[in-house]
Amino acid sequence: MTEHIVILTGAGISAESGLGTFRDEGGLWAQHRIEDVATPEGFARDPELVQRFYNMRRAEAVKAAPNAAHRALAALEAVHDVLIVTQNVDGLHEAAGSKNVLHMHGSLARAMCATCQARWDAPLVMTVSDACPSCGAKATRPDIVWFGEIPYGMEKIDAALSQATLFASIGTSGNVYPAAGFVAEARRLGVPTVELNLEPSAGYSMFDEVRIGPASETVPEWVADFS
Ligand code: APR
Repeated sequence: MTEHIVILTGAGISAESGLGTFRDEGGLWAQHRIEDVATPEGFARDPELVQRFYNMRRAEAVKAAPNAAHRALAALEAVHDVLIVTQNVDGLHEAAGSKNVLHMHGSLARAMCATCQARWDAPLVMTVSDACPSCGAKATRPDIVWFGEIPYGMEKIDAALSQATLFASIGTSGNVYPAAGFVAEARRLGVPTVELNLEPSAGYSMFDEVRIGPASETVPEWVADFS
């Protein structure tokens, strides 16, 4: 039977590809202040600092390769109806071959204009002197959803959850809403839920099933159980 699977992913699925997570020991939020690099106010205060932060992450992301977890989800999409809702801003799901990917927190591969909201493919290095290709304003920023901003795709996500036969959450600590609330919505809709994570997330008790371990092991095993 074709399953309709909504899969939420977080930084943990890209950890074994060498990309840092946020809240693990020594993670990104231990090295940088969220209010400085992940809020509109921080960007207004010091755009140079913010561009440097995302240039560093963009340089790391383009060098990273998908791991067995990303590849397993791409294989799953060939057999079932899968929507990957990722909080990640790297392109590793697409690099692994997944087609139906929704970046709810934006993407390092995209840039936008803070003045006219135009969006385009980001250069590897962005600077505060870059001019918007549409309106010419020197107000370009990474097309990343910062704290206090509205995530992308919420209507599509809600619609997918309402049709889902399974909800899976992979590699996320379950700390940031609205993503952290998807499991409760799935339960309200009577959709079975599973969590695959290195350790129990903040919402682990909401899941019907929890598989603990590194994503490169747990995700292929979980996908194999479908075959
Ligand atoms: N395999 C599976 N899970 C892992 C692995 C791994 N190899 N390594 C770490 N994890 C788990 C951690 O146990 C943790 O629960 O991944 C989770 C990462 O949590 P966070 O660092 O909080 O990242 P995430 O949940 O994606 O953060 C959500 O917060 O700051 C914002 O916008 C940012 O999208 C991000 C959002």
